[in-house]
Amino acid sequence: MALTLCTCSMPSLLLLICSTNLICAFEMKSIYCKISDSCDCDFSPNMRGLEWDLYKNLYGQHLAQEIMSEAVSDFLRKDSPDRPLVLSFHGASGTGKSLVSSMLGRHLYGSAMGSPYIHQFVPTLHFPIPERVQLYRLHLKRWIEGNLTTCARSIFIFDEMEKMPLGLIDVLEPFLGPSHVVFQTNYRKAIYIFISTAGEEVINRVTLEARLSGREREEIRLQELEEGITQAVFNNTNSGLYHSRIISEKLITRYVPFLPLCHHHVERCARRDLCQRGECHRTDVAMAVANAMSYTPADGKHFSSTGCKMVPAKVNLYL
Ligand SMILES: Nc1ncnc2c1ncn2[C@@H]1O[C@H](COP(=O)(O)OP(=O)(O)OP(=O)(O)O)[C@@H](O)[C@H]1O
Ligand SMILES: [Mg+2]
Repeated sequence: MALTLCTCSMPSLLLLICSTNLICAFEMKSIYCKISDSCDCDFSPNMRGLEWDLYKNLYGQHLAQEIMSEAVSDFLRKDSPDRPLVLSFHGASGTGKSLVSSMLGRHLYGSAMGSPYIHQFVPTLHFPIPERVQLYRLHLKRWIEGNLTTCARSIFIFDEMEKMPLGLIDVLEPFLGPSHVVFQTNYRKAIYIFISTAGEEVINRVTLEARLSGREREEIRLQELEEGITQAVFNNTNSGLYHSRIISEKLITRYVPFLPLCHHHVERCARRDLCQRGECHRTDVAMAVANAMSYTPADGKHFSSTGCKMVPAKVNLYL
């Protein structure tokens, strides 16, 4: 749902101004939900679908596949979770972070990012002026409260965390822990996703070391990366969570690392793109696209510097 930071997210206020039966019905429902704490909005999780999508359409990300499947199914198994699900995605540009967040939306709400219960925040759009951080904090808190009152199963996605004004995200701290039910609203059924490139250095370094030492990529374990990512996020002034209590109080349920993509992953992305255009047979184009990417480090050229991000543009060029 597009974010318009205004008090009209508050059900009672909207009730006063609702002008169509549809909106009134929606608001009556949210009031009922508020009182009974028993509605789950249009929440219709399809765990099998999510696992299949991750397995089939996300390339080269065994950790993200494993962690997401496990964390989401553990969370959904509980009717009354003891804390919200807080996921933090890390990795270089074009490695699949936004892709996975939209897969989650699609398999929990059946409507990709179009559901009114999925809220996506982009700092350059919603919080563009760092000097207004106090105001943004107030608005964001109200926005979260209002939407959790309407739908306890809301999903909040904070993209491009590295561009968040310093200190803004800390306002979420009371929502992320095992806090109580406030005003009959269960804050613990929500899902939060933070997305950033913070920690990419450590992820890329460990993946490179594994490759150079002849280890299988799939042998890389989260334990090798987690501490480095946490440190990078906590100590980097541009991570959106610099010195944040969200980190020090361990409110992140799972860190999800995205590894840098290799030539054959890019080729797969290109093949998929071509198939979507009805040009499945053009393996020559897929190969040309993968060859046309730039790879790092200079010595070895193992990983695509833009992941799969430039694939559609290059396919346009070579098709
Ligand atoms: N691991 C992957 N498997 C399959 N497709 C991928 C993968 N990574 C990226 N892509 C494709 O590349 C494009 C860019 O990916 P995505 O938007 O998820 O990147 P990102 O990690 O969010 O990057 P950024 O940090 O720049 O936002 C998408 O079209 C996505 O489908
Ligand atoms: Mg992204």
